[in-house]
Amino acid sequence: MNTPPVIGIHDLAVATGSRVLDLADLARATGVEPAKFHKGLGQDQMSVPGPDEDIVTMGAAAAAPILDRHGVAGIRTLLFATETGVDQSKAAGIFTHRLLGLPPACRVVELKQACYGGTAALQMAIGIVTRDPRERVLIISSDIARYGIDTAAEPTQGAGAVAMLVAADPDLLEIPTPTGIWTADIDDFWRPNDSDIAMVEGKLSIDAYLDAFTGAWDDYRAQGGVAASEIDAFCHHQPFTRMAEKAHRKLAEHTGVELGLDTFLPSTRYNRRIGNSYTASLYVALAAVLDSDDDLTGSRIGLFSYGSGAVGEFFTGVVRPGYRAAARRERTEALLDARIPISVEEYRELHRRVPRDTSTDLAVDPVSAGEFHFAGISGRARRYTRD
Ligand code: HMG
Repeated sequence: MNTPPVIGIHDLAVATGSRVLDLADLARATGVEPAKFHKGLGQDQMSVPGPDEDIVTMGAAAAAPILDRHGVAGIRTLLFATETGVDQSKAAGIFTHRLLGLPPACRVVELKQACYGGTAALQMAIGIVTRDPRERVLIISSDIARYGIDTAAEPTQGAGAVAMLVAADPDLLEIPTPTGIWTADIDDFWRPNDSDIAMVEGKLSIDAYLDAFTGAWDDYRAQGGVAASEIDAFCHHQPFTRMAEKAHRKLAEHTGVELGLDTFLPSTRYNRRIGNSYTASLYVALAAVLDSDDDLTGSRIGLFSYGSGAVGEFFTGVVRPGYRAAARRERTEALLDARIPISVEEYRELHRRVPRDTSTDLAVDPVSAGEFHFAGISGRARRYTRD
């Protein structure tokens, strides 16, 4: 009898906005003690997209190095997860499909359930590759977290994208079957169709996240998942990194297993600097764990995905030999270091500029350093270019 193929994440790459705001500057401008953001929220900076950047350009920028490494062979599906959709009908992935030069024999669809969408895409991709292990699925999770100016949520904004290639015999992470899921109808965070900023009940959202975590964990165990003591490192969704720390402590309390902070802290390295990137955030945390100094070959990583509204899912991945072959850390650090520091005034100007009105044509200059640009609006449709 043939052994079924191992399926999981074959490659992964991060992208983010080209500008960065230091949260100490935001703290000073809003009369807040900077320690509240650095220690209380666990955040140092937040990425801000330039006027010619959005979820499509960040998503394409994340996927480009993966296609450079592996080509397009076997990619017959592109799943684009986002809650920052640029059109009510057309999938954002169709713009990236063209920008990336993917073949026409490829299905493209957009997935939405707040920050959980990327994990839904991962599970669907595993299903597709299980059915035909010759196929590879490209997942792009890309988001811009936007709340109102001068609100408690303002320092928890951010922007980023993660692209992942799901395949049989993966280079990075095998995803074993047991997975724990949890859903409840909760108004903790949502974004109505007529608003480009999220509505949020901050304290309720923290409680809902923790309830989803213990609920998903209990289901994971009921499905045959391993004990907490058998998991070597953890990535929890990071709207701000202190939230993941709260989750980590909650899991220790819930299971009675001592879980040192050293099993979760490596996951915060990039998110402290990017801020919330919604669907991408959990996978930015995974990138940070895989980029840590220790050799993780054979280690089991626990991943908790949360999307307000609310859905939670807990699953694990086992690190594959040779996972360090591509130098991802250098690229990601360089990308973060290359962001242009902006003042609070410049960030607020960019926050105000987000074009929602498509009734007048708009030309946007390619001012950001990346290869992909939002070029504006004509004939009520968004236009994109690649250098
Ligand atoms: P807030 O009013 O600033 O909260 O809102 P706070 O006053 O409770 O302060 C936060 C922490 O800073 C507290 O620590 C303070 O003690 C501490 P804690 O009690 O939690 O341990 N603090 C200080 N620490 C050091 N030095 C000081 C200092 N002062 C205070 N001087 C809140 C915070 C997160 C609620 C707000 O920013 C918010 O609403 N953010 C957006 C919602 C959010 O991120 N929720 C997270 C869970 S929901 C989720 O993850 C889903 C999401 O990603 C969306 C999706 O699914 O699509 C958001």
